[in-house]
Amino acid sequence: MQRITQYPLLKEIQDRWSARAFSTKSVHQDDLYALIEAASLAPSSLNEQPWRFILGEKPNDLSILKQSLFPSNHDWAQHAPMLIALCTKKTTTFNGKDNFYSRFDAGAAWAFLSLEAHRRNLIAHAIGGFDKQMIHESFTIEDDFEVILIIAVGYPGDIHTLSEKYQEREKPGLRRPFMESILKK
Ligand SMILES: Cc1cc2nc3c(=O)[nH]c(=O)nc-3n(C[C@H](O)[C@H](O)[C@H](O)COP(=O)(O)O)c2cc1C
Repeated sequence: MQRITQYPLLKEIQDRWSARAFSTKSVHQDDLYALIEAASLAPSSLNEQPWRFILGEKPNDLSILKQSLFPSNHDWAQHAPMLIALCTKKTTTFNGKDNFYSRFDAGAAWAFLSLEAHRRNLIAHAIGGFDKQMIHESFTIEDDFEVILIIAVGYPGDIHTLSEKYQEREKPGLRRPFMESILKK
C-alpha cells in the first residue's frame, strides 16, 4: 500500500504508516540503538534533548511494558518483539522552570525514530494508550520526567495474527488534503 502525494517527498515520509501485525523476528541491538540515535538527532528547544528511552531489552522490562498497555493495544502490541517507553524532561536545565517544548521536542524525536525505523523495514507504532502510573512505579524515572509514549517496534508480519477489527485497519491512516491544514486569515 502506498500513499499518493501531490509532490515528490522523502520516501520514508511518504511510505511510513502505523502497522500492527508483527512477525516474531527479533530486532537486533544495532537496529534498536540506531533508532535511538536517529531520535537523538532531533532538534530541541535550547538543545535540551529532553527525551529519554526505556528499552524493553530485558525480558522482565519488556513484560512490564506489555502489562502497562490498555487492553485494546495489548491485543496487538503484545506480539511486538520490542517496546520502548519514551519519557521527557519537564523542566529546563537552563533555569529549572517548566520546559514548554518538552513534549513537542519528544514528539520530534519520535518522528525521527519512526522514519529511521521505516528505512530499516521496521514498524514503529506509537501508543498513547497505556498505564503511565505503572511505568513510573516500575522503573526509575526522576520526578521531573514524565512518560508519554510507548513505541512498538518489530518487523511486519502476517495480518492474520490480528483480530478481525485490526485486520480491517491494517493500512495507512488517511489524511485530509494538506491545503486544508493551512489556516486562512
Ligand atoms: C502520540 C500518539 C499516540 C498514539 N496512540 C495510539 C494508540 O494508543 N493505539 C494505536 O493503535 N495507535 C496509536 N497511535 C497511532 C495513530 O493512530 C496513527 O499514527 C494515526 O492513526 C495515523 O495513521 P498512520 O500512522 O498509519 O499514518 C498513536 C499515534 C501517536 C502519534
